[in-house]
Amino acid sequence: MKKTFLLTFALLGILLMGCTPTPANNDPMNNETINTIMARRSIRQYHSLTVARDTMMQIMTCGINAANGQNKQSWEVRIVDNPSTMQHIQDLMVTGNPTLQADMVRGCMRGAPVMAFIARDLGYDFSAYDCGLLAGNMMLAAQSLGVGSICLGSPVRFINQADNSTEILALLNLSENYELCLCVGFGYANESPAAKPRDINKVQYID
Ligand SMILES: Cc1cc2nc3c(=O)[nH]c(=O)nc-3n(C[C@H](O)[C@H](O)[C@H](O)COP(=O)(O)O)c2cc1C
Repeated sequence: MKKTFLLTFALLGILLMGCTPTPANNDPMNNETINTIMARRSIRQYHSLTVARDTMMQIMTCGINAANGQNKQSWEVRIVDNPSTMQHIQDLMVTGNPTLQADMVRGCMRGAPVMAFIARDLGYDFSAYDCGLLAGNMMLAAQSLGVGSICLGSPVRFINQADNSTEILALLNLSENYELCLCVGFGYANESPAAKPRDINKVQYID
């Protein structure tokens, strides 16, 4: 009788333990995802070495697995890793922005050897968020693979406002009703910038 009671008690204990949610890894110092997020920094100095296409494909696969509104995947991504194509785009950007300093326009790419041009579907009001989440996933995946990255808004401005924007956008082969929204540069970091300060007071609990 005593034995049966003990066995039932032990079984109940095991069952209860199974139902209690235990985080896979709640030690923030020893959590790869948290370490990757905290280690990522915007890189503005790159080695000239490009990023292999299979590595970029891994990064892109993580990008397209981002949460996105209604799974519409309201983005298009065009990757440029050919130095002469990159140069050509920069030349067009310079020509299309005659009032701006050429070095400033060229420099907006931050010398990243690989550039992802991300466009949003103008027919979906949440597409800019989709593109942002896609870019975030791509940068974190890159970080975890030892690839540096930078999210860039200025090339978007310089392309969209350029006199020859139609020509540049045609080169990117975007679908109709898609608008260039964000760029993300990738490459191997030639600098290790410190984290910029963050203000945790922007986050508040409301009781
Ligand atoms: C939407 C967006 C646009 C950005 N545009 C530029 C840019 O045009 N040029 C640049 O050097 N950095 C740009 N950045 C990078 C930010 O300056 C950088 O993320 C920020 O200073 C925080 O630094 P961290 O990424 O190293 O943590 C951009 C970042 C975001 C998210």
